[in-house]
Amino acid sequence: IYSIKQLLSKGKKALHEEVTVKGWVRSFRSNRFISLNDGSGINNLQIVIDFNNFDPTILKQITTASSIRVEGTVTESEGAGQEIEIIAKKIKIYGYANPEEVQETILQPKRHSLEKLREQAHLRFRTNTFAAIMRVRNALSFAIHQYFNQNGFFYINTPIITGSDAEGAGEMFTVTNFDLNHLPKDNQDKVDFSQDFFGKKTNLTVSGQLEGETAAMGLGKIYTFGPTFRAENSNTTRHLAEFWMIEPEMAFYDLEKNIDLAEDFLKYCIQYAVDHCKDDLDFLNKRFEEEQKQKPKEEKSEQNLHEKLEFVLNNKFIRLSYTEAVEILKKSKANQKGKFKYPIDEWGVDLQSEHERYLVEKHFKSPVVLFDYPAKIKAFYMRLNEDQKTVRAMDVLFPGIGEIIGGSQREERLEILKQKMNSLGMDEKELNWYLDTRKYGTVPHSGFGLGLERLILFVTGMSNIRDVIPFPRTPNNADF
Ligand code: 4AD
Ligand code: MG
Repeated sequence: IYSIKQLLSKGKKALHEEVTVKGWVRSFRSNRFISLNDGSGINNLQIVIDFNNFDPTILKQITTASSIRVEGTVTESEGAGQEIEIIAKKIKIYGYANPEEVQETILQPKRHSLEKLREQAHLRFRTNTFAAIMRVRNALSFAIHQYFNQNGFFYINTPIITGSDAEGAGEMFTVTNFDLNHLPKDNQDKVDFSQDFFGKKTNLTVSGQLEGETAAMGLGKIYTFGPTFRAENSNTTRHLAEFWMIEPEMAFYDLEKNIDLAEDFLKYCIQYAVDHCKDDLDFLNKRFEEEQKQKPKEEKSEQNLHEKLEFVLNNKFIRLSYTEAVEILKKSKANQKGKFKYPIDEWGVDLQSEHERYLVEKHFKSPVVLFDYPAKIKAFYMRLNEDQKTVRAMDVLFPGIGEIIGGSQREERLEILKQKMNSLGMDEKELNWYLDTRKYGTVPHSGFGLGLERLILFVTGMSNIRDVIPFPRTPNNADF
């Protein structure tokens, strides 16, 4: 028994073999040609039926979306674009699909909008586009583990339920076993969490970094790879309420080494996908090119998907400080002509995705790493620079995406870290366990976080983050 992908890649070497294949019918033409797909790859296998030899009641059950098993002989195909096909001898129907009902779904073989695909998320795995994206997602996840394991990192699992807000941004989902329905409505903000399951208020993790740092302070180099939750109510094409983050943390790394690692790591993952997902990326490239044709001229990408990936692989990322970036943005035509929604007028403002994308797509036309951001707009744990104004933060910005990675060198000096926490009104006691890492043999260390879905967006050329995760969780959407 072969998967369809294995059989097709064997090609003419498989001629005359007797084989069994199983899959779902993509189409059945002229009562004679079945196009079969089993999910192993983007290409369908053609099955040819000699209808004189088949029971017509079986043929009636071969409908789009139905699942079947075919036994037959591999023969040379006369069809264009395929080397081989199967002459069926025996067919078994596993599950019939009613054509009238199929017509109402995205299983109907025609081009459906991505919105429609999202409405039937549970059926998306049967479509070419989504299945290709999921195979790329799988390859990238595997590449991530491979990269770190080849480079001396240990995979550690940080908790999903925590009592802290690692990013200090207050974007958390509370975890409770209270039945809030039984509490008086006007009293829900006075919930006494000391009576709750953990004896304190807890939430779903927004980042495994703080726990990851404690692990790196013993294991040297670690990475986490897990689900991450943010209750930021931003309904954008780049944000999910539940996403997957990869967070390496390295003892004895300064910011430069951290940036070097981020660049090398991203290139490794992208190269892995290019090497292992050729058919899927060819398919997604065609899709990308068609999509570009529909776009207005100023939004059209000059490169196709393959070229975009090759460009990132073959060029060193531009590195510049926040201060330099602000100077460029201030002087830019876009800023002077009032094209930014948030004009850049002074040093210290947070950069919006329109600014990041301007730098990457218009100014440099290259991935960009920005570093040394104003302390005020970044998280409490980042290392303060000599100027007392900026911190050793870095963001990696990608074309079409904006921020793909955020990271920093950490503040390893206990007193300075405490001062910072105090100035932000943070409770030292709550983070005693974290501060201990700075008491018992503190070391300079760094790390970063990569959003898996943002990397998949880039590699697949898709434009909405909901289309690269199996079950997207976004405001008002947690149904399936
Ligand atoms: O920049 P962020 O918030 O950094 C951290 O969480 C740090 N603790 C990471 C670290 O230094 N260990 O998030 C890191 C990355 C972003 O660059 C982005 O790719 C992704 O996580 N990300 C999201 N992806 C999808 N949906 C969201 N709501 C995301 N928020 C962040
Ligand atoms: Mg960030």
